[in-house]
Amino acid sequence: MSETATVKLGDKTYDLPIVTGTENENAIDISKLRDLTGFITLDSGYKNTGATKSAITYLDGEQGILKYRGYSIEELAEKSSFLEVSYLLLYGNLPTKEQLDNFQSAISRHTLIHEDMKKFFDGFPSKSHPMGQLSSLVVSLSSFYPESLNSNQTAEEQNLTIIKLIAKMATVVSWIYKKSIGHPIIYPQNKYDYVTNFLNMTFGQRTEEIEIDPVVVSAMNTLLILHADHEQNCSTSTVRMVGSSDCNLYASIAAGISALWGPLHGGANQAVIEMLEKIKEDGGDTEKWINKAKDKNDGFRLMGFGHRVYKNFDPRAKIIKKACDEVLEKLGIDDPVLEIAKKLEAAALNDPYFVERKLYPNVDFYSGIIYRALGFPTDMFTVLFALGRLPGWVAQWKEMKENKEPIGRPRQVYIGEVNRDFVDISQR
Ligand code: CMC
Repeated sequence: MSETATVKLGDKTYDLPIVTGTENENAIDISKLRDLTGFITLDSGYKNTGATKSAITYLDGEQGILKYRGYSIEELAEKSSFLEVSYLLLYGNLPTKEQLDNFQSAISRHTLIHEDMKKFFDGFPSKSHPMGQLSSLVVSLSSFYPESLNSNQTAEEQNLTIIKLIAKMATVVSWIYKKSIGHPIIYPQNKYDYVTNFLNMTFGQRTEEIEIDPVVVSAMNTLLILHADHEQNCSTSTVRMVGSSDCNLYASIAAGISALWGPLHGGANQAVIEMLEKIKEDGGDTEKWINKAKDKNDGFRLMGFGHRVYKNFDPRAKIIKKACDEVLEKLGIDDPVLEIAKKLEAAALNDPYFVERKLYPNVDFYSGIIYRALGFPTDMFTVLFALGRLPGWVAQWKEMKENKEPIGRPRQVYIGEVNRDFVDISQR
């Protein structure tokens, strides 16, 4: 392939450089386009816009490939732990045993959160959505750990801020859950690994030691690993965009959490279960709901189907489907909503509407089912997605800073009114 792309505007031609990534993805570098030609590009939703060069995650939506730092998601999900994957995303390589032990112990030392943060928990109405709480609590951490506000932290200081956030996030998430059910919070315990500690703070009780089923720990690890990064999606781009203003890590991540909340993004896992419940209450006629999803005059969409970039299959969905079957079998769960999910999946996979549009179950179709089986209430699902996505967001924020990327500032094509004369309010 030629090393430049030629743009012809009127009778003038311009050569623009072509950038090729390590997986042979090609991009036309248009960074000088406006200076050269006066033109900008228009790409609503950034479907064809590379916002950065990144060495963290590679995905191929056509082939259904997802890799973190060159390792396939299939291998990582099978062979590693969430903390190992977090280390990989943050620092670029899989840790040695010693590095992982040090990482784990650094995280364990920072899992406690400032006691005054509990006042925030007390202030939220008991029914307030966990995602709103999470976003507010994460940005509030910046007030309790103000050293993070320095945008010129040394690498060591920055690393400590990162460790603190990863450590405290699990505590915050479990405390949000405890508040939602009106139970006392459980403090972190250093003797546990990251995931077990989180599960203990979530499902544990103050009065007695609970046993955490290894099947549950393993499923939780898998879910968190599968969500750990997904290159430049809506929330990650938000984290990078907010961080590009030199904003502190907590504020950047809180913005990412808000972006994740929407049902077209991370909120889909909650929407899946709500949809399945609705279908069940309506009598369980999956065909009726498939027809509604196909009807262009009906706003209903099959939640958990389709993906912005995966157009053949979502590799995470394949892994999670297997984990889902195992968990349900081992925990002996017999859930009528699950039967509806299976019927819906089978019907959609054989329906020309979904086949032609390449709409397959995505990761959120199954993750909601597992979270439910593990005992999480529906409105906690997106919070769990955020817990998993955190190392990815942080790694992307860190990379953006290390690469000294400029502040994000897209342009627009203005289509509004031109030159109107002001009319006094009495005349309008
Ligand atoms: N149910 C019914 N029809 C659908 C669906 C669906 N879930 N998704 C897309 N379509 C149709 C859509 O109506 C359109 O049809 P037509 O070409 O006749 O106008 C066609 O498929 C293409 O849709 P699109 O909106 O242009 O596709 P997109 O790639 O921009 O949207 C999506 C991707 C994920 C927003 C969309 O598929 C969707 O809304 N899915 C349901 C929500 C969901 O599960 N989201 C989680 C995504 S995975 C989590 C994550 O990584 O964040």
